[in-house]
Amino acid sequence: MAKQKTALDLHGLYEASVQNVDTDLDFAKRIYLKHFKQKPRTLREDFCGTAKLACNWVARNKQHEAWGIDFHQPTLNWGIKYNVAELSAEQAQRLHLVCGDVLNSQTPKVDLALALNFSFCVFKQRDMLKQYFKAVAKSLNPKGLFVMDIYGGTESVTAKNDDVREIPGFTTPEGIKISDFNYIWEQAEYNPINHHTTCHIHFKVPGHGSINKAFTYDWRLWTLPEIQEILIEAGFSKAEVYLHDFDDEGESDEIFRLRKTYENVQGWVAYVVGVK
Ligand SMILES: C[S@@+](CC[C@H](N)C(=O)[O-])C[C@H]1O[C@@H](n2cnc3c(N)ncnc32)[C@H](O)[C@@H]1O
Repeated sequence: MAKQKTALDLHGLYEASVQNVDTDLDFAKRIYLKHFKQKPRTLREDFCGTAKLACNWVARNKQHEAWGIDFHQPTLNWGIKYNVAELSAEQAQRLHLVCGDVLNSQTPKVDLALALNFSFCVFKQRDMLKQYFKAVAKSLNPKGLFVMDIYGGTESVTAKNDDVREIPGFTTPEGIKISDFNYIWEQAEYNPINHHTTCHIHFKVPGHGSINKAFTYDWRLWTLPEIQEILIEAGFSKAEVYLHDFDDEGESDEIFRLRKTYENVQGWVAYVVGVK
């Protein structure tokens, strides 16, 4: 059982449950093309963790180059061992991992900056979030786009709320077979006075048991109007919100459209885009 609690297993389960880098990159590329009538070439993945998205970017096209920034070296090391290892030597040369704080890490100017899975919510003070958005604006080319995501809806402001999803199994690089397993998103605390929230990710893997509090997040749940306003204050010329519809089973249809109005259903995930 203890073996299942190694960092290797947790990051693998996290990537399988949470990340959909193809959807993210297809979206970012589509919106970049829409605004600038050309394809993006360079990308910065903030809060990159295991750098799955940055690795995917350099693997997509020989012209692509990516920088991934995270201040947690052990997580970057996991990404180097399992994600960068999947790249050819030529692809890996176009990927640069930086162990540093997204607030002040220096990278060459890029076309696209992405901050996904709500990671910017670590900044709980307005001034800090603005400082971060200014750092992103500075890191972008004049034709530059910043893409982040945020969740909301009536259930996002309800404490003691659990969302359980069944995730398809997979085989780890070590050859350990993980059968279909449960990913549990627990919203443990939510304070309406300051929107601070504590959330946990738990996993239940058949044959391997439960991994409680595999990941914990202490965040401020920022609202869409706050994010848009702070983007403009930080120097972006435009802030846009893209939201999905729902399929017959009530799941996101993963088709993100520019919205000015939206029904505040139980749960949604939006892309927020800052245009340089
Ligand atoms: C929710 S994970 C995101 C992982 C992955 N990029 C994704 O989209 O799912 C957040 C990551 O942000 C990193 N992080 C948090 N604050 C940071 C900061 N100020 N600068 C750099 N990395 C930070 C953590 O080490 C962690 O790996």
